[in-house]
Amino acid sequence: MADKKNNPAQVKDTGHVWDGIRELDNPCPRWWLNSLWLSGLLVIVYFILYPSLPLVNDSTKGLLGWTQIKEYKADLAEVEAIRAPFEETLASMTVEEILADQKMLNYAIGSSKVLFGDNCAACHGTGGAPAAGAGYPNLTDDDWLYGGSIDEIEMSIAKGRAGMMPAQGSLLNTEEVDQLVQFVVNSSVGKATEAGMALYTAKGCFACHGADAKGVKMMGSANLTDRIWRFSGEEEQIRHTIIHGVNDGADVETRVAVMPAWNEKLAIVRQVTADAIADDEDLSEIDWDDELEGDEAERLTETDIKKLAVYVHQFGGGQ
Ligand code: HEC
Ligand code: HEC
Repeated sequence: MADKKNNPAQVKDTGHVWDGIRELDNPCPRWWLNSLWLSGLLVIVYFILYPSLPLVNDSTKGLLGWTQIKEYKADLAEVEAIRAPFEETLASMTVEEILADQKMLNYAIGSSKVLFGDNCAACHGTGGAPAAGAGYPNLTDDDWLYGGSIDEIEMSIAKGRAGMMPAQGSLLNTEEVDQLVQFVVNSSVGKATEAGMALYTAKGCFACHGADAKGVKMMGSANLTDRIWRFSGEEEQIRHTIIHGVNDGADVETRVAVMPAWNEKLAIVRQVTADAIADDEDLSEIDWDDELEGDEAERLTETDIKKLAVYVHQFGGGQ
């Protein structure tokens, strides 16, 4: 059979010739044309069924009423339905009970990763180990300022913490500061001298750091006898801490060490009280029912705090 397409002499051309090569005018293959018409048809069907034309504030809705948001919400509802019984059970358990229940513990830890990443990692680092020198406590070691029992950790998260060491600069002469810096360096490697210990005691450091300089949980005072530094083990930095203190509002160079309170109600109470005092308002006039209804403080629910407490506890340093 003579194939006209392949016999250039019998095919119409477009009249275009380049370097002696003629451009022929063969029709497109039928299968190709058919799929072109079909895809055109599909566009029209989609156009009618789904949201398509953008309007000023909205878009055409489509016969099916489908939207991405609806699909997302349906998926979310599915996840919530799986989580709801766990969340309800958690709400009624104490942190000790959660630790003792492997199934609930797994759930709490699993759902805490995002919570920790969103709320805590900015300061404490992903996984609870902050960058060195960032000024935040490491949550993965055995060294706790305020205690590593599950209750103490829960308390730290719910109520926040802010250790206070008054600036000692005005109470000590240069020589005494030097000797105390040396004392701190020496005791971090277990080599405190008697003279150093005597000065430490005479200057009242023991009242907060304890007679053995190992720190006092109630106050969150750092343990001075280990090589885990709350701020830094460099002599200049130790000197800075001693002279300017920690969270001492009267000293502009003081170290700032504030762990926010994450209990939402408590955070609101603190904020509203501080605002009222700043504005010279009468505290008894505050309508607490109204204030506590809002969630402006963007803190965590009690269940979230429990989850985070067991999460931090299992980092390895929990006691
Ligand atoms: C703005 C920074 C910041 C954020 C955010 C933050 N923390 Fe803290 N956290 C601190 C500081 C600073 C301390 C130490 C307070 C001190 O030295 O008195 C601390 C202390 C703690 C402690 C006590 C550690 C100890 O040694 O006793 C725990 C537990 C803790 N944080 C957990 C959390 C959790 C869980 C979150 C997230 C919900 C969180 N923190 C969010 C700054 C932060
Ligand atoms: C009123 C209580 C108080 C007194 C008095 C006090 N400290 Fe402190 N000190 C603290 C607290 C609390 C911290 C930890 C602050 C934090 O992490 O929030 C601290 C932290 C330190 C640190 C930082 C340790 C590190 O790991 O980086 C040094 C060093 C220190 N104190 C030395 C001294 C010396 C020396 C004296 C006596 C001259 C003294 N302190 C007196 C409460 C006190």
